[in-house]
Amino acid sequence: MYNTRKLTDTVSCIGVNDRVTPLFESMWPLPNGVAYNCYLINDEKTALLDTVKLGTTPNFIETVETILDGKKLDYLIVNHVELDHAGEFRTILERYPEVMVVGNAKTKQILECYFGELKSFFEVKEGDEISLGYHTLTFYFATWVHWPEVMMTYSKTEKILFSADAFGTYGTMDGGVFDDEVNFDYYLDEMRRYYTNIVGKYSKFVQKALAKLEGVEIKAICPLHGIVWRENPKRVISLYDNWSRWNADEDAVVIIYGSMYGNTAIIADALAREISKLGVKDIRVYDVAKTHISTLLSEVWRCKGVVLGSCAYNAGMFPLMSHLTEAIIHAGLKDRKVALFGSYSWNGGGVRNLKKFVEETGWTLTGEPLDVKGTATQDKLTPLTELAKAFVFHK
Ligand code: FEO
Repeated sequence: MYNTRKLTDTVSCIGVNDRVTPLFESMWPLPNGVAYNCYLINDEKTALLDTVKLGTTPNFIETVETILDGKKLDYLIVNHVELDHAGEFRTILERYPEVMVVGNAKTKQILECYFGELKSFFEVKEGDEISLGYHTLTFYFATWVHWPEVMMTYSKTEKILFSADAFGTYGTMDGGVFDDEVNFDYYLDEMRRYYTNIVGKYSKFVQKALAKLEGVEIKAICPLHGIVWRENPKRVISLYDNWSRWNADEDAVVIIYGSMYGNTAIIADALAREISKLGVKDIRVYDVAKTHISTLLSEVWRCKGVVLGSCAYNAGMFPLMSHLTEAIIHAGLKDRKVALFGSYSWNGGGVRNLKKFVEETGWTLTGEPLDVKGTATQDKLTPLTELAKAFVFHK
C-alpha cells in the first residue's frame, strides 16, 4: 500500500495509494483509486511537506521515522490544508511536539479551525526563504488552486517544485511513481478528469500561478496526487496550461442527451451520424442518466464541439441535464461551439432551457435547435442534416 521513493539524495516521496474510497470529496468516482503524496527533505534541518489523508495507511508515522533515521523533524510545511493532505497533521504534532509548522496567514486560520490553536507557527510571505542547510526553500502563493491558502514550495537548490494540488491526477501509483516509470497514456484521461472536477473552476488562478512560475527553472514537480515529474515536467505544465485556458481539441465532438422514453436518444444518434458523415471522427455520445457528471465534465473540457439534447421534464430540462449545465456554469468553462436538440409532448421546456444555458455561458450556438414533438420519426429528423453542417462548419 505504501510507496517511498527517493527523488534525490535528500528528498523522499512518500505516497499512499487509496483503492478503498469510492468517491473523492464524496462526489467524484475513483474507479482507478487515487494517491496522496507528501515529501520529506532530510537535510541539516528536516522538513516534511504536507501529510496524507487520515486512515489511508496504518504506518505513516513509522515511514517518516524511518526516513528521518533518528533525527527530529524541524519543520512541517503545509502547502495545502484540505484534509486529504492534512489528515495526519495531528499525528505529526503528537510525535514531534517541537516541530515548527510553516505556512501563510490563511494556512494558520484554516489549520486552527480544524486542529485548534497552534503552539508554534512560522508565517511566511510570498518569496520568503527558509534554509535547511543544503536546501534553500522559497514560497509561491497559489491562492485558489484550489483553496485560498494554497502555496507552492520551491527548492532553489535542486529546482524542485512542491506544487500542492496543481499538476495532480486521479489514479493510484501501481509500482511506478515518476513520469519516466509509467505509461502516461493510462493517466491522461484521469488527469483531465481530476483537473476538471477539482481545479477547473479555478482556471484563472492556475494561469496566475503559471505566470508566477514563468522563468523559474523547474527540474522536478512534486504534486500532492499521483505522478512525480522528474523527466519531463514541461509536459504536465503544458497540459495544465491548456486546460486552464479552456483550450480544447478542435476536432472532437461530445454529444450528451437526457431521454426518458428514447426519442431524444434517437435524435442524438441521428445527429451523431450526420456529424460523422461530414468527416468528424472523434465523436462520443453519452446518456446523461448513465455516465457520471465527473466524466461528462472532462469530456466537455476535451471537446471543442458540444451537443446537448434534453427531453422536456415538468416544463424544464431533464433534471440530470440541468445538473450538468449547472456544473458547467459553476466550473466557468468558456469558448465552446454548441448545437442543441430535444423532444417534448405538449409545452416543451428542454430545448428552451438549454438555450438559456447557452446564453449564460457565452458559448457559440450553431444552427437551429431541433425540438421534436412526439415520436422522433425519420421525417421529423431531416433538419439534422443542416444542423450538423452549421455545427461542423461553423467558425
Ligand atoms: Fe487534494 Fe484540494 O486537496
